[in-house]
Amino acid sequence: MTATGADRQPWKEAVVYQIYPASFVDSNCDGWGDIPGIISKIDYIKSAGADIIWLSPVYDSPQKDMGYDISDYRSIDPRYGSLEEMDRLIAGLHLRDMKLWMDLVVNHMSDQHTWFKESRSSKDNPRRDWYFWRDPKYGVDGVRKSPNNWRSVFGGSAWTYDEWTDQYYLALFLPSQPDLNWANDDMRQAIHSDIRFWLDRGVNGFRIDSMNLMSKHEDLPDADILDPAEEYQSGEKWFASGPRMHEYLHELRTQVFDPYNAVTVGELGFTKDVESVAKYVAKSRQEVNMLFTGDIVDMDFGHSSKYSRKDFHPGMLRLLTHKWQTAMPTFDGWNSVYLDNHDSGRSLTRYGSDDPKYRAFAAKLLSIYMCTLSGTLFLLAGQEIGMANLPREMGIEHYIDVEGRNHYKRVLKERGGDESKMGDVLRELQLKARDHGRLPMQWSAQTNAGFTNSDVKPWMVVNPDHVAWNVEAQQNDPDSVLSFWKESLALRKKIADIFIYGTFEMFHESSPQDTIVAYKRGSCRTEEEALVLLNFSSQESQTTLLGNQTWNYLRGNYPSPQTRGGSLILRPWEALVYYSKEG
Ligand code: BGC
Repeated sequence: MTATGADRQPWKEAVVYQIYPASFVDSNCDGWGDIPGIISKIDYIKSAGADIIWLSPVYDSPQKDMGYDISDYRSIDPRYGSLEEMDRLIAGLHLRDMKLWMDLVVNHMSDQHTWFKESRSSKDNPRRDWYFWRDPKYGVDGVRKSPNNWRSVFGGSAWTYDEWTDQYYLALFLPSQPDLNWANDDMRQAIHSDIRFWLDRGVNGFRIDSMNLMSKHEDLPDADILDPAEEYQSGEKWFASGPRMHEYLHELRTQVFDPYNAVTVGELGFTKDVESVAKYVAKSRQEVNMLFTGDIVDMDFGHSSKYSRKDFHPGMLRLLTHKWQTAMPTFDGWNSVYLDNHDSGRSLTRYGSDDPKYRAFAAKLLSIYMCTLSGTLFLLAGQEIGMANLPREMGIEHYIDVEGRNHYKRVLKERGGDESKMGDVLRELQLKARDHGRLPMQWSAQTNAGFTNSDVKPWMVVNPDHVAWNVEAQQNDPDSVLSFWKESLALRKKIADIFIYGTFEMFHESSPQDTIVAYKRGSCRTEEEALVLLNFSSQESQTTLLGNQTWNYLRGNYPSPQTRGGSLILRPWEALVYYSKEG
């Protein structure tokens, strides 16, 4: 059993509500969500139980990667509003004792940023070294090649050739997203000052995008060839968690964030082992407050890539939950608890069930799972009403995100352009494509779900299931998923000793059917304990885990628990929480 023993902090108990701005509320009827739309929903967000908004990028951007390609860190994309409206959002949140966290995308930027334009203009431009410029390589055949064999995260080479100066620049995502060279002191100072610009306006924290890609191996060596059939290979060994990573983060923390008491959560890709993760988040090291380690949202990513097939099994969740709930306390780190974000499909469809018969049960089960774990809790807008992925019958024409589309195009080409052979690819896209996490928020049953006027064409398709699954339908229904989430969040805060700061013990063998995820939480200060039992299945399951201890039923997603012959019966997607106070 592991005790968190962690010191108490408001940000640890907070519920963070992620808003993908294009998809939340469109107040000016141009098909895009905007800042005034968010302002109009602050009271709703607070009433759902959230304390903090994490806003995905709203900075000026050509939107080649939905704002993760920033062309000016100090201004707002007019699609989303203005600086003055950002100030109003911040003030509106602070007035209600809430906070705003922004997305900090500083591993890379847009090629339309003036810094990059200057850097590109000549080899001796003072900003040349703010990016990674390298000479071409030439094969024996005299053909020009990229400086190394790294593959971009979105496919193809990670290098883009620039005729003007006959050099390549590094762009680990899209060619229009050049990577910044953090080894350059002036560049780092310029970024620090852009961050302070927001802190001075009252922003309270940041989610640091692609955080551990900020330091690359100095020599940018070729990646090992793991897939000989491919021209480009994953260079993560050389570009993730590089040699100066901890130095940059410590510098940011002490020189930029700490003077403002700003809180940070870093996106940590590729680095998975506990010892390496610990270095980022152990309190004494003063780097980031917490991390998105990705494991749980990546659980069903296949062996060779995100879109190769791997079916979810509750055993995976058991192992990973155990891993992080027990690991963080050992090095005085802190978890983030999340299942959804804008980079994948919705957890309800992937790990729960969106079958109408079970959907509400599964959504409530996931709320119990999240609300009974230690860590700062992150909800993606819509999760609180049980939003799901686009339905299976909706074809590829509805998927517009660059990651999924590039994948589809590449495989289609390999298969000779034969659309009839793409069934397996569509299956994986229907589960994991980023489009699902970006669907317009479902406010009502009206055309366009109340996200925008019914006569406007939204920037992306609205899920047809909004007719039944929307805020309006759930707001006054005590049995709704939304009401259940509110209660789960309130209970978590009420019994913070156990659910936020308590000890954790996983039961690795919980039921013959192996569909139950069960764990015990205990208070470090009192003799109180809670037992959580979650049946991740549309089949009934049973368990004897209650044993001889006196457990009092605290909460569940069925009217009351069911027992048979000394065993507890868990019905499809049933979730139960028991409580015990010894002594
Ligand atoms: C963001 C993605 C984005 C990528 C490149 C991330 O990990 O979450 O949405 O496409 O960084 O900026």
